[in-house]
Amino acid sequence: MAYPKSIRIVDVSPRDGLQNIKQAVSTETKVALINKLELAGVKDIEVASFVSPKWVPQMADAAYVLSALDLNTSTNYAVLTPNAKGFERALACGVKEVAVFSAASESFTKKNTNCTIDESLKRIEDIMRPALDNDIRVRGYVSCVLGCPYDGYISTEKVSYVTKTLIDMGCYEVSLGDTIGIGTPLKAKLMLEEVLKNVSAQQIGLHFHDTRGQALANLLACLEYGIASIDASVAGLGGCPYAKGASGNVSTEDVVYMLHGMGIETGINLEKLAVAGQYITSQIGISNNSRVGNVLG
Ligand code: HMG
Ligand code: MG
Repeated sequence: MAYPKSIRIVDVSPRDGLQNIKQAVSTETKVALINKLELAGVKDIEVASFVSPKWVPQMADAAYVLSALDLNTSTNYAVLTPNAKGFERALACGVKEVAVFSAASESFTKKNTNCTIDESLKRIEDIMRPALDNDIRVRGYVSCVLGCPYDGYISTEKVSYVTKTLIDMGCYEVSLGDTIGIGTPLKAKLMLEEVLKNVSAQQIGLHFHDTRGQALANLLACLEYGIASIDASVAGLGGCPYAKGASGNVSTEDVVYMLHGMGIETGINLEKLAVAGQYITSQIGISNNSRVGNVLG
């Protein structure tokens, strides 16, 4: 067990961070946020989702966001797609990576995507074939890996099963979502140990929400297993509209501060990253939930 030398940070603030915001956020503001993240050296950004605009109106302008980005830069822009229709919309925009999502909880899957886990996996299969044919990378998410707002307890075997299924289908990586930030470090380790019985640490990302202030501790516990991919959101923005009680992702500034303090590289400039967090919170008129972001602000 050793910490990795460098870690890939996937900033999900333009998608996870803004999908749950009540205030209207203009396309220009979203694009400015993405550009500021890039200026800070963030190389992987989840920029939008092509879900139903009736379900998540905040993401209705996804195609406009994409059209304002130069898709030929070295930044890896990913978009979330729930079904074949969302994938086709993303493909028409020229994306090179999509993220698909399922969960380890039946009730959450029903609330979030109006289907069962098996049906969500079937929808993902419908995305996977055309994605691989078009050389589009596919990243997977498993939600509710440490607990569900509706079903409560989630078995680690179920998390492991859905993760392995996504990898077998062709996802290059699966990000494990503590959607409602309910986990604690030992539970996170036990869950991860079960998952790593079937897939390698290089195939896993961590996507921890910070509802109860446990996300950094949970990440640290899991990093010992060699995980080298972390999702985070500037200013700690984030939350799923269909997960009752979910709040922000762990803040990118706090994660980067911790990793740099441990001598782990991210390629990110922390001061410039904090500027992105300050920009988006002042534009929307909400408080900045990053502890480090507030120190630097
Ligand atoms: P549904 O209502 O069951 O879908 O929703 P449907 O297939 O019956 O279609 C209904 C209507 O929606 C039709 O239009 C479709 O054409 C349209 P109508 O005939 O009524 O005019 N439609 C679409 N339109 C645009 N784009 C699409 C699309 N699909 C159908 N892709 C559906 C099923 C999956 C679409 C819906 O439930 C949905 O969009 N859910 C997404 C909810 C969501 O975005 N949640 C947040 C993201 S997940 C998350 O945050 C967790 C994560 O961060 C990890 C973690 O934290 O754990 C990733
Ligand atoms: Mg999330």
